[in-house]
Amino acid sequence: MRLGIIGGGANSEHEVSLASADSIASTAAANHDIIHLTIGRAGHWTTDRGDALAVDAAVRILRTCDVVFPALHGVNGEDGMAAALLTAIGVPYIGSDIGAGAIGMDKWVTKLIASELGIATAPGTLVRAGERPTATLPELPVVVKPVAAGSSHGVSFVDSAAEVDAAVIAAFEHDDRVLIEEAVMGREVDIAVLERSDGSLTVSPTLEIDLGGDDVFGTERKYGGTARFVVPANVSPATRAELESCARRLFRALGCRGIARFDFFVTDTRLVLNEVNTMPGFTAESQVPRMFGAMGMPYADLIDALIETAMARR
Ligand SMILES: Nc1ncnc2c1ncn2[C@@H]1O[C@H](COP(=O)(O)OP(=O)(O)O)[C@@H](O)[C@H]1O
Ligand SMILES: [Mg+2]
Repeated sequence: MRLGIIGGGANSEHEVSLASADSIASTAAANHDIIHLTIGRAGHWTTDRGDALAVDAAVRILRTCDVVFPALHGVNGEDGMAAALLTAIGVPYIGSDIGAGAIGMDKWVTKLIASELGIATAPGTLVRAGERPTATLPELPVVVKPVAAGSSHGVSFVDSAAEVDAAVIAAFEHDDRVLIEEAVMGREVDIAVLERSDGSLTVSPTLEIDLGGDDVFGTERKYGGTARFVVPANVSPATRAELESCARRLFRALGCRGIARFDFFVTDTRLVLNEVNTMPGFTAESQVPRMFGAMGMPYADLIDALIETAMARR
């Protein structure tokens, strides 16, 4: 296969995406012919060697690929933009199409859909740029975060009313809509769904993020290498079954394709959906490859399964 890989992206998850793309490229190079392109922070395309490419040149290169893996996280990529480009130029690609990407990127709309499916999310209030947080804030402590961002950028844990404004301002650095959410006191447990080439779904083992006592799973801990993943998570068979059922229903309701990771809080009494990632971190050490690895599917096979699913959709 001639496999196109796109990394980088004009967003705050640029670096994380470069790592995903590099990891995919170096592993997939054993079985495939790799065409590796990068989108810079300002949106300009380059080759992986850093040579500038005009957009039309990048499109011409992408059109020579059998299939493309847009390993882009966050806005201007995961939010449906990469899917839109690849759909428009008629190249098969890995992952969700425009609709699911856009919905998954929007933490507010995700809440509305989850609620319709009977899946709990943290009660929250939406604040738009120019508005002040209303009097009807959730009970403290709260988590303040951009509606669309990633890698914990702009996310604050706030336990006094006096700090809410500063946290809202910080979140507005990343988006023009901000969520003020009740802080959920629970363990963070993720589960992923892989769509096979025959359309069936394989649900991964659960993965618990060991927060080591931190309130918020912040950028530092996530990417500073101190987060510890426990696979499978230490949850009861009943909780596991409920997580699996929620993940399958969300995958289908959102119209996800290929792969998606669903992040939950597990409290003593219930499950609360935190967020949906339609292009989750994809280095060999990231959550999703670790989850499928634990069920006996090596990283290279996971990449090949995604390629097969993308080709079958063509
Ligand atoms: N409502 C909440 N209650 C408790 N912790 C939260 C809440 N929302 C976010 N967090 C913490 O902040 C982290 C980042 O928030 P998240 O919504 O996952 O944003 P991102 O898209 O940046 O990953 C989560 O992994 C979790 O640790
Ligand atoms: Mg998250």
